[in-house]
Amino acid sequence: MGSGGREIHVPVLTREVLYWMSPVPGGVYVDATLGLGGHTEALLTLEPDIAQVIGFEWDSDAADLAAERLASFGSRFVLVKASYTQLREELDRIGVDRINGLVADLGVSSLHLDRSERGFTFKVDAPLDMRMSQDIALTAAILVAKLSEAELADIFYHYGEERQARRIARFIVEARGKEPIHTTAQLAALVSRAIPVKYHPKKIHVATKVFQALRIAVNREFENITKLLSAAPQVLAEDATMCMISFHSIEDRIVKQAFAKSDEFQVMTKKPVQASQEEITGNPRARSAKMRVAKRHF
Ligand SMILES: C[S@@+](CC[C@H](N)C(=O)[O-])C[C@H]1O[C@@H](n2cnc3c(N)ncnc32)[C@H](O)[C@@H]1O
Repeated sequence: MGSGGREIHVPVLTREVLYWMSPVPGGVYVDATLGLGGHTEALLTLEPDIAQVIGFEWDSDAADLAAERLASFGSRFVLVKASYTQLREELDRIGVDRINGLVADLGVSSLHLDRSERGFTFKVDAPLDMRMSQDIALTAAILVAKLSEAELADIFYHYGEERQARRIARFIVEARGKEPIHTTAQLAALVSRAIPVKYHPKKIHVATKVFQALRIAVNREFENITKLLSAAPQVLAEDATMCMISFHSIEDRIVKQAFAKSDEFQVMTKKPVQASQEEITGNPRARSAKMRVAKRHF
């Protein structure tokens, strides 16, 4: 749906989040990636004994929409317009010491993809922006203009798992010498020209991986997840549950390794929890979701 209508983001693995979180009466929970509030709404509706859900969201547009949607829960919902990397500082600010559980539904929201002017998608021509939060300084256009060929290739290869990373980076550096690359359409056309037609993927757009890689770099997604995982033990109460939902193999690896190597976590899911076929049929985005769960261990 476009920016004119009611924005919808169907939350993934909601039933599984509720099951693993097993909320306690009077408990206080954090939704680290509030988005449009789908998981928070489910927690507050289906678990009437939860005292409070504190939702972190760094995108003002999403935060405002979620606040409107969740207004009827009154003081049971608290909005924190900040990055989840500020978890400890923000909880201190609102006077919360420990929480009983945390969910993070990583990745991009449908709001970002639907609002073409935010520059996340190659489907519509728009400024090459891709910032999830208005507080981020560097846009995708700036990265494309300023990074060296080797840095661009690294980003495309590591964050996008793009095999043609070097070739695409070379094309970009050649092209930007002639004319600045400001828009999503310019970048998509350039990637399409850089990759020989015989290597164009059949199931996805040829620029999908490059766009994904730039989005991850602009928003420092992997660094932020690492920070969240190291901040969480300072706020989780004994036996509190942390549910991490990822959509990218590197994200999933970061979560798996952080849970495994920390004495402060007890891993509850040896293998990641995945969506049922029924859920995937109704919401294809759920296909790549992987949830790992750990409990705070003292
Ligand atoms: C997949 S969506 C969450 C959707 C949400 N569960 C729902 O049901 O509507 C991810 C959200 O996390 C937000 N986000 C990503 N990184 C963040 C960060 N470091 N701090 C706060 N919010 C973040 C994004 O802006 C986006 O709105």
